[in-house]
Amino acid sequence: MPENRCMQGIWSNPWLFILAASGSAVGLGNIWKFPYMVGENGGGAFLFVYFLCLFLVGLPVLIAEVALGRSVRSNPIDTINDLHERRIVTKGWVLVPYLAGLAGFLILSFYSVIAGWALAFFERSLAGVFSSVTKDETQAIFSALIGSPKEMLLWHSVFVLIVILVVGQSVTRGLAMLVKMLLPALILMLLGLAVYASIVGDFDKTLTFLFSWNWSHITTDVVLAAVGHAFFSLSIGMGGMFAYAAYMSKHMSIVRACTIVVGVDTLVAILAGLVVLPLVFSLNIDLDTGPSLTFVSLPVAFGRLPGGQGVGSVFFLLLILAALTSAITMLELFVAWLHERFYVSRLKAAFILGLGVWLLGLMSLLSLNEWKEIHFFGFTIFDFLDKFTSLILLPIVALLLSILVALRIPRSMLQNELITREPTHFKWWYNVLKFCSIPIMVVITVAGWIGV
Ligand code: PFF
Repeated sequence: MPENRCMQGIWSNPWLFILAASGSAVGLGNIWKFPYMVGENGGGAFLFVYFLCLFLVGLPVLIAEVALGRSVRSNPIDTINDLHERRIVTKGWVLVPYLAGLAGFLILSFYSVIAGWALAFFERSLAGVFSSVTKDETQAIFSALIGSPKEMLLWHSVFVLIVILVVGQSVTRGLAMLVKMLLPALILMLLGLAVYASIVGDFDKTLTFLFSWNWSHITTDVVLAAVGHAFFSLSIGMGGMFAYAAYMSKHMSIVRACTIVVGVDTLVAILAGLVVLPLVFSLNIDLDTGPSLTFVSLPVAFGRLPGGQGVGSVFFLLLILAALTSAITMLELFVAWLHERFYVSRLKAAFILGLGVWLLGLMSLLSLNEWKEIHFFGFTIFDFLDKFTSLILLPIVALLLSILVALRIPRSMLQNELITREPTHFKWWYNVLKFCSIPIMVVITVAGWIGV
């Protein structure tokens, strides 16, 4: 049996892991969320802290998740159960992968609502609605969409259905192939749009905003937002990367693969910032606009571009595909587990979980209009799910997984993964994880609980 063979398939090409993991990481978080997070959190200050988080927490935790996933080549739930049966960890640890699956499940419920916005904008772009639109008109188009539960429900349902159908098949290889075409297309398109935005938008103001800051801008809120977004953007703390690592070739350097994934993810986010922010400045859109920022600013640029109808349609299509390759990871953990453990067909498992996601998403989308007044801990359901997952659940799961890898499981389990194959990397990674990432995550988790 080839050594990289596992229960669900064979990954002959060492790039497949990088592609699938990048497909999971690059999504709405980079293009929809990153620009408005930068806008809301003071630009350069957020960017500075975000970079620190990526290298001091994000990358080491991603390596931990992948190293564990490749060493056991099983799903996270069975892995921790097995560790418990072998008395390596106590019973409480068995809960950790369920929390990870829960995080993916909760995130998908509101993620699919945003993906629904992308579908709605794709349809409008195809219909030529954005030709020569002004900022006020795109704002009105966006508000009309948010104010229409029926339309949002339609697109949310379409997206959830597509996710169910795709996750229902075992398509990781096909997924990687899709990402192989999608990522270069997305990066090229964003590059082209960034050049265009730098010409028609306020590029100087963007550069000053992004690359200048002072210490007083770095508040607890900015730090929490940056860490939470690093987890969200790298898809860590949800077990998805763990699951993909099971398919990773033994010959691939884990540190190199994870560094590439972080690099691609960051590149796409920065490019999206360089597209959206110059337009936001030149159109005098409020930086605090929040989730609508990308959807309000970009169509104005498409409307003015020669051939903008086509460019806009392709852009939204790429955004939808990027959202899809991310969304698939969110259900993967529970679907694989139900399938392997209870012999439920993948499609049935995806359908059951998808139904739950759809219902919860329905509540999220209603909280944007008819249920606006219903609040949990001071937040609408949509905002609550977003903040609860990014600021509390993901950091907790990531922290527990890191403690597990760094302090609980025997080093011999990682022997072949990092210690022998990448001895220098191992020392570097192990020390950063133990002395830097874990203490930072403890502080962040406590601050998240107190602050939210
Ligand atoms: N990383 C994805 C994005 O930035 O859009 C979001 C995401 C994907 C979160 C997969 C969680 C996950 F399991």
